[in-house]
Amino acid sequence: CIADHYTFTVKEVPYKKLCSTKKILTVNGQFPGPVLKVYKGDTIYVNVRNRASENITMHWHGVEQPRNPWSDGPEYITQCPIRPGSDFMYKVIFSIEDATVWWHAHSSWTRATVHGPIFVYPRPPKALPFPKPDHEVSLVLGEWWKKDVREVVELFTRTGGDPNVSDALTINGHPGFLYPCSKSDTFKLVVEKGKTYRIRMVNAAMNLILFFAIAKHSLTVVAADGHYTKPLNAAYITISPGQTLDALLHADQNPKRTYHMAARAYHSNPVINFNNSTTVGILHYNDDAKTSSSSKRYPNLPRYNDTRAAFSFFANIKSLYSGQVPVKLSRKIFTTVSINLLSCPNNSCEGPNGSRLAASMSNISFVTPSHVDILKAYYLHLKGVYGTRFPDFPPLFFNFTAQNQPMFLQTPRLATEVKKIEFGEAVEIVIQGTSLTGGGIDHPMHLHGFSFYVVGVGFGNFNASEDPSSYNLYDPPYRNTATVPINGWITIRFVADNPGVWFMHCHFDRHLTWGMNVVFIVKNGRAPNQQILPPPPDLPPCY
Ligand code: C2O
Ligand code: CU
Repeated sequence: CIADHYTFTVKEVPYKKLCSTKKILTVNGQFPGPVLKVYKGDTIYVNVRNRASENITMHWHGVEQPRNPWSDGPEYITQCPIRPGSDFMYKVIFSIEDATVWWHAHSSWTRATVHGPIFVYPRPPKALPFPKPDHEVSLVLGEWWKKDVREVVELFTRTGGDPNVSDALTINGHPGFLYPCSKSDTFKLVVEKGKTYRIRMVNAAMNLILFFAIAKHSLTVVAADGHYTKPLNAAYITISPGQTLDALLHADQNPKRTYHMAARAYHSNPVINFNNSTTVGILHYNDDAKTSSSSKRYPNLPRYNDTRAAFSFFANIKSLYSGQVPVKLSRKIFTTVSINLLSCPNNSCEGPNGSRLAASMSNISFVTPSHVDILKAYYLHLKGVYGTRFPDFPPLFFNFTAQNQPMFLQTPRLATEVKKIEFGEAVEIVIQGTSLTGGGIDHPMHLHGFSFYVVGVGFGNFNASEDPSSYNLYDPPYRNTATVPINGWITIRFVADNPGVWFMHCHFDRHLTWGMNVVFIVKNGRAPNQQILPPPPDLPPCY
């Protein structure tokens, strides 16, 4: 059923996984959290009641929230946190979203367990642009730590080293039978021969890009990040943290057999530890004849470091609609995304050579304010909260992807710098990955408040005189999270028609925590309907 008021009670509940029980943060006791169902263009109200012992905020990932940054959620960017015992009513305005998006907490690493999908439907009598599926399946991929996630964060932020890798990957919260004590904790999908299932997939993992496939069953991708795509038949899927996909599963195989679905990490940098385990789920047909348990049917997934396989999937996604890309640009921005190092007294930290790991955009490691949010500071003209010098000028220029980098480049500037943009500007951003500190890695970059066209992607240093000739200005993917390949670049374009304060960051949470973030402030336009809505009366107080 479709409602317009929801209550999200955030509370700690014990869950048993991988042979041990711990308390996790949940919404309404559910993990993964509840599914929200809306029609395109709906406005819903979600009352978030914090009945846990830590701060919380909620973000509606992929929902543009026109003129309404007040309900966007990132802590100390658009609001101060909802403290334990307090409530805040989020007003979530759906506008251009057509397919699956999601919601998740946006305070420290609380989103590890506080997340759920949002199913968007066309408002009748509008129809889907593909044949109506018989059923829908929510499929949320995640990561599980045996430790309390707060401890994981406390440990790596204190020591300055890499965070502990997770202990399992999960499908709808289930690790699957390849992990200890998880035989009965395995996701199971029962299908009927001849029917079509719309899989609404979310990658809610914290630090891993994932490959996913179902044995013997191909998938037809029909939407990505809440926007329809041209149908794409795929033997496997690549999905970055923050991304969502809608894919049709055709139940057309021998119903007497059991099949497996599986997800595991794609990871381009073998120097960095990562969780290389596999989560599996079971697909079987509701056929009366007993399926033989010996019929193991595992899907083929690309090798963990197969960068070509990972990025050819992304490149094959095309927007359903053509000719929408802004071509007359009014602003071009070039920025780098890097892993960096900061020195520690007596080299006492646990990063390389006793240093502390950091991350940056344009070599500015973003410092999140801790007493007031940037939106409030902007709206009330508070001084001294942020600067407006992103990216630094002149831009730091070097051979971004060279094998050996001069040491001095590894140290970023620590600052809270934003970028101001006029209402209605057509913006292009080139995001260049660098090999600083560890040789480079992929970065799933997410922008709040907008979807953008990914017009170009490539490896090596961006070449401003040659690479634009390869841009797809016809039907590029329209997304809110796009992955910069290891030692490569992407180019995105959007029209800045949503006034507000909008966060951009790497959706690997360790990189976010280290500062791979920036804030765009889109100024008000002249017309009243081009201006930020007034703040809600119950905004959580800052102190
Ligand atoms: Cu899905 Cu800023 O986040
Ligand atoms: Cu990153």
